[in-house]
Amino acid sequence: RLEAVIFDLDGVITDSAEFHYLAWQALADELGLPFSREKNERLKGVSRMESLEIVLEGSELARLPEAEKLRLAGKKNDHYRQMIGRITPADLLPGIPELLDSLRERGISVGLASASLNAPQILERLGAAHWFQAVADPAKLRKGKPDPEIFLQAAELLGVTPGHCIGVEDAAAGLAAIRAAGMKAVGIGGVHQPGAADLVLPSTAALDAGKLLELFGH
Ligand code: G6P
Ligand code: MG
Repeated sequence: RLEAVIFDLDGVITDSAEFHYLAWQALADELGLPFSREKNERLKGVSRMESLEIVLEGSELARLPEAEKLRLAGKKNDHYRQMIGRITPADLLPGIPELLDSLRERGISVGLASASLNAPQILERLGAAHWFQAVADPAKLRKGKPDPEIFLQAAELLGVTPGHCIGVEDAAAGLAAIRAAGMKAVGIGGVHQPGAADLVLPSTAALDAGKLLELFGH
């Protein structure tokens, strides 16, 4: 029986993935480093400091002391926070409000498993916090995605069994985390490896409660 659906935030609930990309691009430009959408794909679902390592890789800046790296990550976050300050409920991705309403009507719990420390603020700006019974805290994690820990933490907060959950993700690392947690995986975006997800949909507009329930044979 489907008990809960646990969502990634960036690229699933709202397109903040685009803001992360723009903020990293701005930092890379300031540092005179090459950056591309292709490289950005590797940052999806990955924590701020791990993302910085990927942005710096191949440059001598990769050897900067930790304090300097924290400062650079802080600069990226300043760019990012400026962008998310303009988020409104109109930025919920297509189909998401309807899906969240419909899950609530069916008594299916809803959780958030985002690696972003900015996630609670984004949910508030979207006017979406009321749909979520649990929000995993990435600051409490030992390991990020693709480790299953964040999805397991969300399931525990909801009081549900991982095997009765679905995870929804736009990134490869996130789908791997969902499957490692023993949950069914739904991939958004259509760029996923065969076998990476139980169901792949081109966008959130194609996501509805009926399709999720079908994964549990309802
Ligand atoms: C999400 C995004 C990543 C981002 C991470 C940390 O997982 O997909 O691109 O790096 O959160 O976000 P934060 O807002 O804490 O820097
Ligand atoms: Mg994402």
